[in-house]
Amino acid sequence: MEINFIILAAGMGTRMKSKRAKVLHKAGGRTLVENVVQSALGVTSPERIVVVVGHQADQVRASLAHTGVQFVEQTEQKGTGHAVMVCRSLLENRGGYVLVAYGDCPLLTTETFASLAGHQQQSKAAATLVTTKLEDPRKYGRIVLDPAGHVAQIVEEKSCTPEQLAIQLINSGIYCFRADLLWKHIVEIVPNPQANEYYLTDMAEIFARAGFFVDPFEIADPKEILGINTRVELAEVDSILRARKVRRLMEDGVTIERPETVTIDAGVEIGADTILEPFVRITGESRIGADCAIGSCAVIESSTLADGVSVLPFTHIVASKVETGARIGPFARMRMNARVEAGAEIGNFVELKNTHFGAGAKAHHLAYLGDAEIGDKANIGAGTITCNYDGVKKHRTSVGKGAFIGSNSTLVAPIEVGEQSYVGAGSVITDPVPADALALGRGRQVVKEGWAAKRRSAQATPKS
Ligand code: UD1
Ligand code: MG
Repeated sequence: MEINFIILAAGMGTRMKSKRAKVLHKAGGRTLVENVVQSALGVTSPERIVVVVGHQADQVRASLAHTGVQFVEQTEQKGTGHAVMVCRSLLENRGGYVLVAYGDCPLLTTETFASLAGHQQQSKAAATLVTTKLEDPRKYGRIVLDPAGHVAQIVEEKSCTPEQLAIQLINSGIYCFRADLLWKHIVEIVPNPQANEYYLTDMAEIFARAGFFVDPFEIADPKEILGINTRVELAEVDSILRARKVRRLMEDGVTIERPETVTIDAGVEIGADTILEPFVRITGESRIGADCAIGSCAVIESSTLADGVSVLPFTHIVASKVETGARIGPFARMRMNARVEAGAEIGNFVELKNTHFGAGAKAHHLAYLGDAEIGDKANIGAGTITCNYDGVKKHRTSVGKGAFIGSNSTLVAPIEVGEQSYVGAGSVITDPVPADALALGRGRQVVKEGWAAKRRSAQATPKS
């Protein structure tokens, strides 16, 4: 069965009160329109999916470029019917079915698209449309059924009579059309007199006039068709998508304490037996291995953690990589391609920026390691700072394998500290340190015997 998709994403969405087009807002970690595209990709291939763009067309295109879908531009937004019409020249020679979905309904699942198409294929209808019954049908178009149970008319809320307003069966905005009949009859839509827009919903009456019918296809879970028009609805939909994600992860063997508190994007993968504590946030395309422990309030963005990694509470890891068995945090920060090798330990208030931290190396407290190469099993004392920036350029620091950097050392880059060498505590290191050496770069200590006692007695003698 050939299925082509049209996803409408050209509108601005003024009710969002935003500079950004509505379909570019995110829910569940993906733009609204990408959520719909991902569900469509479960039913058909990307070259059969056409996204209608208009407002902020370039941004919408860019946000979907990785999916491989097609785009058609609707330069003026003259309504949902018009948005489908602009796809006519691209799609009218293709057969099968045309599934239309709105880019602001991100909860739709692949299963719903597949069963809608299946229903249409079995029936003699010209089109099938997804409906549901809502306690509060709010701003949705209401479905008027004919005595045979077919869709006689879809009436937008603002055009409803008082009787029609009481109808609870609503239009989801998801339709499956027979391609031949859609392209033949879509030209018959005329602008709605009140809104001066071409309404796709007019197709029900148009088909009825031409002797065809439209089948309603009622889905059980009304939540799935929630269309977003406001930020309140955006938040509602986001929490539903997040809940779906954590449920899938738990079904796949991830332990999540207080699942309602964690925020995990759709694109995240987590291995079995990993444990997430409350309020963890993992976003982007992050990959978390098996048997990891992620502490409360840790934030992990677009990063990769191998198996058996421990991330302690309040740690922030962005665009970085952690190898097997390493321990990070609490209160640690990794960013800009920081890489921590197997078994290494990064403790509290340690920041790693664009730094490669060797296997088994340790930096347990209070350090800034930027643009550095830290050798395997090196020990970085508390308070160590790489001075990587001279006000104009960034420079690299290299610490050899097994080196010991004493507490409160300042390594002025570019600088190299050799393997197995020692840097004495409190040193400012500006010259290279050879392997196996001891480097001291600090003021020599002076001890004045009896100085304090003398001072006390001088203070006790009354001045005359
Ligand atoms: C529409 C339906 C309504 C249904 C509801 C479901 C019509 C006339 N009404 O109303 O029956 O209950 O969706 O959510 O179809 N768009 C374009 N180009 C345009 C106009 C809209 O691409 O010229 C896109 C928008 O970006 C949006 C989608 O179509 O993604 C729906 O538009 P919207 O204005 O939200 O329609 P509703 O008023 O919600
Ligand atoms: Mg809408």
